[in-house]
Formats: sequence, C-alpha cells, structure tokens
Amino acid sequence: MDYTTDPQVLNTLKKLYQKCEEGGQNLPSQLEGFLYSDYLKYWDYIHLDTLLSIQNPKTDMPDEQIFIIYHQITELYFKMIILELEQVIEEGLVKADFVLNKIQRINTYFEQLLNSFEIMLKGIEEDQFLKFRLSLSPASGFQSIQFRLIEILATEFNNLVDETNRDINDGVEEIYKKLYWRKGANDSSIGKETLTLVHFEKKYKNLIISKAFEYKSKNLAYLCKRNLKSIYTDELVAELKRFDSFANIMWPLSHYKTAAKHLLKNAEAISSTGGTNWRKYLPPKYRKVIFFPELWTQEEKENWGKSWLY
Ligand code: HEM
Repeated sequence: MDYTTDPQVLNTLKKLYQKCEEGGQNLPSQLEGFLYSDYLKYWDYIHLDTLLSIQNPKTDMPDEQIFIIYHQITELYFKMIILELEQVIEEGLVKADFVLNKIQRINTYFEQLLNSFEIMLKGIEEDQFLKFRLSLSPASGFQSIQFRLIEILATEFNNLVDETNRDINDGVEEIYKKLYWRKGANDSSIGKETLTLVHFEKKYKNLIISKAFEYKSKNLAYLCKRNLKSIYTDELVAELKRFDSFANIMWPLSHYKTAAKHLLKNAEAISSTGGTNWRKYLPPKYRKVIFFPELWTQEEKENWGKSWLY
C-alpha cells in the first residue's frame, strides 16, 4: 500500500497539520517524536504497580488487606457515580435519553456494590477483624468525602438535615451546622464532637461548603423539580427512585447489617472506630435521608428504611 497517496492518510495529516498550527507546534518534529516514542503498555496505562502498592495494612493480618481493598473498590465506584452525576447535571436535564442512561449507570454501579458487600462478611475473619480494627481508630468510613459529595450533587442541601430541624430560610452555612452526619458525630451520648469529625472537618469543611454553594441551584433533585415534567417518563422516575433507594436504603442497610454482625457481641454494641452511636446513627429509618422526596408517597416516606425497596 502506498501511504503517500492514501486519501485517509492524507486527510489525517491535514488535520494533524491544523492541530499543530493551532497549538503553535511543528508537524514534522511531532511526527519524528512519534517515531522515537515507545508503545503504550497496559500496566503503564492503568498504573498497575501503583494500584497494587497502595494497600498498607497496619497489622500483619491478611484479612486487613481485604478490608482495605474493598474500601478502595467502593471509593472507585463512588468516583464513577460522581462522574455520572457531574455529566447529567452539566447537561442540565434536557435530553431525556441522556439522563435516563446516566441514572441507569449509577444504579448499575450501586447494584454491584450491593451484590459485593458480603465480602465484608465472608472475606474477613471475625477474630482478625476484632484485632486489626483496634489499630484504625479514629479513622472511619464516616470520613469518606466522596460519599458526602454524592449527596451534595444528588439532592438539595437541606434534605441532608433531619426533617424536624429543617428551615427553608436557612442558607448553606446554617444548613451545614445541622447536617445529619454532623449531628451523628455530636450525639448527646457522646457529649462532644468526635475526633473523627474534627479531623474530617479540618480537611474537608471548606470543600463541602463550596460544593454546597456550587450545586445549590444545580443539584440533581433541584434540576428534576424544574425539568422533570418536560422530560418526564415513567421509566426515568422509576430509575430516580431506584437510585434514591440504593443510596439511602439498600446500601445503608447492607452496611449497617455488616457493621452489626461485626460490632454486636452478645447484644452488646462494641464502640466503632468513628465513635458514633452507630446503632442509632446508621439505620436509614432514623436519619431518613431522601434525595427526591417529591417522587415518593407520604406512606413510603413514613416507612423509609423499614424494609428493602427494589
Ligand atoms: C466490616 C466492615 C465495616 C464496618 C464494621 C463498618 C462500620 C461503620 C460504622 C460503625 C460507621 C459509623 C461511623 C463510626 O462510628 O465509625 C460507618 C460509617 C461509614 N462507613 Fe463503614 N463499616 C464497614 C465497611 C465499610 C465499607 C466497605 C465502606 C466503603 C467505603 C464503608 C463506608 C462507610 C461510610 C461512607 C460511612 C458513613 C456513612 C454515613 O454517614 O451514613 N464502610 N461504618
């Protein structure tokens, strides 16, 4: 084949030339650079060596690595959920198919998380867990910033406050003080802020407040209220409800049941590494966080978290 006359090659060269012109680059030098540069390898592309080197257990118990890896896997899924949320928000909920596709993707990710949570039961020997957890305090999944960001992108900031404590006139700063997770880490049985919360806020308070401002008028629930009628389909509403139920009932219930299995001994609650009153804090029926309240009936809201949905 004579590449010097191949129209496809010539066309690509023309586009490359334009690209170089725009970027102030020299095409012949760029092409020569291509000649000397190495081919991409799979392990470099996904940074495999780095990925496999970032499990640093605090003890020599093998199941601690499983505990770390599964947390990392979950954080990667959280990142995928955030990427989908950012795109759907950026698009402004105008194209119904696009929105549906993104929410379905989020639900697929949550489904994977739900189906795999058992790893935290079967993948960790009780004896090992009860020992290695002692070296983790005050670190806790409570300090997952991505979990908090999913909430901020998905719903109105005020929906993250206990319903009885909500005031529609509150600004971001007032709402922040009343957030359910701040309350959970300030529980009366604790008497003061947990160290877990103090550390978390030192690192992330400013970011959380700035994100709350940024998404105040463009979080998913807000956009839904504004646009849903124009792109309304039963299928989309069902997917949004499924998302709500995954994020605020099913994942929290799975997580709570796992925590209870490990932390309830002879009906006595062992204190958690994050120091919350976790039997009151974790169950979804107490906190009643609902991303899209207007999509649920009064009865469904009253019974929120009392049973599995979807
Ligand atoms: C043996 C497994 C686990 C146990 C016993 C456990 C226990 C707990 C407890 C007791 C809390 C409440 C905060 C505290 O007092 O520490 C908590 C919060 C949390 N954990 Fe876990 N957890 C486990 C696995 C996981 C995994 C795999 C993840 C994945 C990232 C995770 C993410 C979270 C998140 C995001 C919170 C905050 C939840 C909220 O504020 O609603 N946990 N966990």
